[in-house]
Amino acid sequence: LVLCCGGAAVAGWALARGGTDTVGAVDFVRPLAVPPLADSRVDDRGRRVFDLLARDGRRDFHGDGRITRTAGFDGDFLGPTLRARRGEQVVVNVVNRLAEETSVHWHGMHLPARMDGGPHQTIRPGATWSPTWTVDQPAATLWYHPHPHGQTEEHVYRGLAGMFILDDDREAALPLPRRYGVDDFPVIVQDRNFSRSGEFKVTRNVFAGIGVLGDTLLVNGTVGPYLDVRTERVRLRLLNGSTARTYNFGLADDRPFALIGTDGGLLPRTARVNRVQLSPGERAEIVVDVRPGERVTLRSTAPELGVGALADRFAGGADRFDVLELRAARTLAASPAVPDALVPLDRLDPAAAAATRTLSFSGRDINDRSMEMDRIDFAVTRDTTEVWEVVNRDGTPHNFHVHDVQFQVLSVGGAAPPPALSGWKDTVYLAPQRPIRIALRFTDHSDPDVPYMYHCHLLYHEDAGMMGQFVVVEPGQSPGRPPRHGTHA
Ligand code: C2O
Ligand code: CU
Repeated sequence: LVLCCGGAAVAGWALARGGTDTVGAVDFVRPLAVPPLADSRVDDRGRRVFDLLARDGRRDFHGDGRITRTAGFDGDFLGPTLRARRGEQVVVNVVNRLAEETSVHWHGMHLPARMDGGPHQTIRPGATWSPTWTVDQPAATLWYHPHPHGQTEEHVYRGLAGMFILDDDREAALPLPRRYGVDDFPVIVQDRNFSRSGEFKVTRNVFAGIGVLGDTLLVNGTVGPYLDVRTERVRLRLLNGSTARTYNFGLADDRPFALIGTDGGLLPRTARVNRVQLSPGERAEIVVDVRPGERVTLRSTAPELGVGALADRFAGGADRFDVLELRAARTLAASPAVPDALVPLDRLDPAAAAATRTLSFSGRDINDRSMEMDRIDFAVTRDTTEVWEVVNRDGTPHNFHVHDVQFQVLSVGGAAPPPALSGWKDTVYLAPQRPIRIALRFTDHSDPDVPYMYHCHLLYHEDAGMMGQFVVVEPGQSPGRPPRHGTHA
């Protein structure tokens, strides 16, 4: 069991008791930073090529001269937004300028396992790794972050993460806000603790043992952010980029908003809701209506973790976090109404499942086993549908994330899934003792030797071993063995 990872890398990285877990009101004093769109070029083979450089950084988050040692891609903290279109072949040249090994995983992306950036595709200091794949999935809000085994929490906490937006013709045909940085914004929400001298500090909540719960929110790396809105409707791409905390997002006056997309893309139908709950790694695309001249706060209220009202607070559910203030201009440019019908969803047929599996989460194990780099837990056959029943046997929160595919939720605790789970998902919250059944279909890429991961996306748990590996094989093929020390660049 790992109590503390990579201690030397972050000053003040120490095991300590969590304090009162409520932040409440925030002074919105800084314009929201909007990550730049990453530059790219098209090479002579028609491939879209990005460069991404992981490096250490320094940042004054509070504007008071206290410097935090951070890490980021192409900058001091977080990274640029990558953007590509369905059908394009992309190449990302990832350069590791950190003093240690890392990796970059494309969370939510359907791609060959050796391009996935999991713990078997680590990049040595000074090395460059250049994965390439063809984007073949619907328009969606994905993200990227390191995944070195046992060190993911620390690398993400230091700031290594960014958004990856996919576009396609279906999304482009709908009347939705889509001008990046104008009426369509990434909203990457992360909680942090700061030491007195300004360094990131790791304070684990010992009651629930779920990882780091910070008392300060960063949104795209901004403390106390506001956003000037100049259109009647604004699209927010919410990403819970926190390591352990779950949020329950809504507007301070409880007005409804349009939930249009989740992890893997647009929903079949717009859901008019006033809350959307996101556990670590999950995304939601929402469209908010604003009135001229008003200020309205995006706020997280106590999530329903299913642990128990008081215990929820020690399990990552603060009563209230003010996230971002939307400041509407006196004159707003018109935005079209959000349509009810979005993109049709082809339902996977659970009756046609080639295999049914149970994944039982308990302690830091899945099915009583802890992650081992050279053990493949199971093989799935390419072009088949499977049904997995994922269940949290503990009294504390977990969630479930699987690589390579987007899945469909069949049921939650035996009931039909709510609207927020009605589309494509790659990560889902696992309330204690409430089994989730999902259908998944593995297509295109098979490789008996290189596994994909499935794990808890509470990164402290993932690092501590709550992860397993599967391979996608051809019909009749048996799984191989992952290279003992991974496939380093
Ligand atoms: Cu977002 Cu396996 O990770
Ligand atoms: Cu967990």
